[in-house]
Amino acid sequence: MTTGLPELNFPHRHILGIEGMTREEINFLLDLSDSYVAQNRRVDKKSALLRGRTLINVFFENSTRTRTSFELAGKRLGADVINMSVSTSAIKKGETMIDTAMTLNAMGPDVLVVRHPHSGAVQLLAEKVTCSVINAGDGSHEHPTQALLDALTIRRRRGALDGLLVAICGDILHSRVARSNIQLLNIMGARVRLIAPRTLLPAEAGRLGAEIHHDIRKGLEGCDIIMMLRLQTERMHGSFVPSIREYFHFYGLDHEKLSCAKPDALVMHPGPMNRGVEIDSELADDIDRSVISEQVEMGVAVRMACLDTLTRDLPANRSLDEGEPTR
Ligand code: NCD
Repeated sequence: MTTGLPELNFPHRHILGIEGMTREEINFLLDLSDSYVAQNRRVDKKSALLRGRTLINVFFENSTRTRTSFELAGKRLGADVINMSVSTSAIKKGETMIDTAMTLNAMGPDVLVVRHPHSGAVQLLAEKVTCSVINAGDGSHEHPTQALLDALTIRRRRGALDGLLVAICGDILHSRVARSNIQLLNIMGARVRLIAPRTLLPAEAGRLGAEIHHDIRKGLEGCDIIMMLRLQTERMHGSFVPSIREYFHFYGLDHEKLSCAKPDALVMHPGPMNRGVEIDSELADDIDRSVISEQVEMGVAVRMACLDTLTRDLPANRSLDEGEPTR
């Protein structure tokens, strides 16, 4: 199969994280995604590239945009897409995640897209199945397609990532989005600042390849891009902030705090947003500064690029260290 685009430069069977990807591989995925943005803006958005292929979405955790985005991506490429609902599945009868995955694998899908509340669970699953696996978020570990869609959004707005100063602000401790983004931005030559209260930074924050700031106004100085993060209360055991009101006062982004960044700095958020907690509602809707809807649009294109890449039947797609290919 060919899209007439740059030659495949992605020797992996799975997409489990940004860790281990090269700058060239990321650029390849972003270039391919660009072509899918164009396809998605046409009236007829559908192609037959993945006709005969099967994609199963297996989400052990809630999701709106990521699951829908993968579903649309698969359908726009002509694949058969199935959404397995964990709440009505045999998981509820005590079946393990691995047994569920093996059962689905036996039905011969080409790609499993998996989200799981535990860090490392998707990798474990990928080691057991014979199809390709895409990590749609595992615990607080990685969310590679989110980092790729964020990169695509920035690259289309700013031309390149190289040399940009990017602030990631909020609940870094529990955020897989932050972890994947920090790695991707470092690989692509951007500088990263983490802005958060001490309680919401991981112990290893100093070794992540980013500057640390606790004062948001200082942290935002000179920034080109600001990524806001939700307080991931579902991953919190105990209280990490004194109160929501106080959190918004110190760390919630509004136009006033944003004025500390570069005058044309862009505001991003992976969603779901908690308006009035990490971001002011008016700022979130300010189309001159916020690119949050654009991120969602880019998400579909990036996932089409990932599905296209993993289903190409090329020797370069086969990596012995990731197990024998099945196609
Ligand atoms: C994020 C996630 O699930 O990690 N959402 C998303 O995929 N767009 C961030 C979040 O839940 O806050």
